[in-house]
Amino acid sequence: MSGIAYLNQGVLSVNPPNRIMNLDKLPFPVRNIEYLGNISSIGTDKVGKRFFRMLAGRGCYGKCSFCSIIRFYAPKYRIYRSPQNVVGEIEQLVNKYGINDFLFNDEIFYEISKKGQMWIQQFVELIKQKEIKISFAIEMRANDIRHEEISLLKSVGLKCVSLGVESGIQRVLDEMNKGCTIQQNRDAIDILKQNDVTPLISFIAIIPTMSFKELKDNYKFLFSLNCFIEENVYNKLNIYSNCEYKNILEKWNLLIEGSSFYERHGYNFYDPKVELFSSIIEDVRVVFSAHKKKLIAIDSKTDNSEILNKFQGEWVKFNEQLWMNITNVLIEAIDNIDINNIEGIKSMEKIYFKFINTQSDFLHNYIDSFNNRKYNFYV
Ligand SMILES: C[S@@+](CC[C@H](N)C(=O)[O-])C[C@H]1O[C@@H](n2cnc3c(N)ncnc32)[C@H](O)[C@@H]1O
Ligand code: SF4
Repeated sequence: MSGIAYLNQGVLSVNPPNRIMNLDKLPFPVRNIEYLGNISSIGTDKVGKRFFRMLAGRGCYGKCSFCSIIRFYAPKYRIYRSPQNVVGEIEQLVNKYGINDFLFNDEIFYEISKKGQMWIQQFVELIKQKEIKISFAIEMRANDIRHEEISLLKSVGLKCVSLGVESGIQRVLDEMNKGCTIQQNRDAIDILKQNDVTPLISFIAIIPTMSFKELKDNYKFLFSLNCFIEENVYNKLNIYSNCEYKNILEKWNLLIEGSSFYERHGYNFYDPKVELFSSIIEDVRVVFSAHKKKLIAIDSKTDNSEILNKFQGEWVKFNEQLWMNITNVLIEAIDNIDINNIEGIKSMEKIYFKFINTQSDFLHNYIDSFNNRKYNFYV
């Protein structure tokens, strides 16, 4: 069987992968309604609370140096299921389960090629012809976002697009081999907003080769987009086995070799101020994650979408402001210290932990107040 690795009398054998070219030959996946997606939709405007995950094809033509997915598929291009096959599965699921929300997990839902454009046209025509009413979310690369396709998809229920924006620093985008410019990212977000489609951005805020000046500019960019989520603030580069970034960090002399194939590689930082920022923001994330669990519990305890929307709207605004404050305060504090003065750093950390605790209490009280105020949640 192609694409598997096994031990043959203690010797590792790897069968080269062989891509399935005709995905329509595969049967539709067996669905178990009990395991339906039911993730918290806090902070996003994805799809309904219960939704089916779907794949409209496999693979991505991108070559991003941090990405683990591209090692999966050789050769690296996208193979589509036929629109008839995908819409047939959607129709079956809607009729059988009465659930109209779908989350496409394709790395990219389509690319701007003749094939991709035709695929979108046929997909949209079929949904219209069959009069299927759905809401769905997809993932895309920013350079493939255009008015033409987005407005077509919007007309048949597109609600949200996940975009790998990754960075507001062109040097870093180039290092990532993203093949997108800062302007393309901004344009893509604008096109989505103009079509009333929610952009859900992914961002790798902390990169070990960054200077502190780049880190500051990066957050300025992130906050200027007006659509960031909490994870964007603290997501940092993971180095998976065999990804291209491993070689880049080796060249910078920053890589720490992992002791096993499965481990993510550790790394040192080029700029000690970036390292300090990275370690403190991670502490904040850990302290705050306990509060977030409580929020998810609130979210999953109500099915009243009107209450939920109000609650989410208020929460999103509050959380955005909180993370922006924390990041800006932290950046300013680190900017002003002499990184060679250990005592200075320690006293800054103390002050900062005090700040985190105050913010943490503030967050705790705020979440608790949801129970007592207008929403009547019982957590
Ligand atoms: C939303 S999807 C990307 C959608 C689309 N394929 C694209 O690249 O624009 C996956 C996201 O996970 C994040 N991610 C993937 N690999 C990562 C890594 N090694 N370290 C940190 N974040 C990573 C990136 O922000 C990436 O954009
Ligand atoms: S575009 Fe997305 S899925 Fe494709 S290689 Fe880049 S990060 Fe990976």
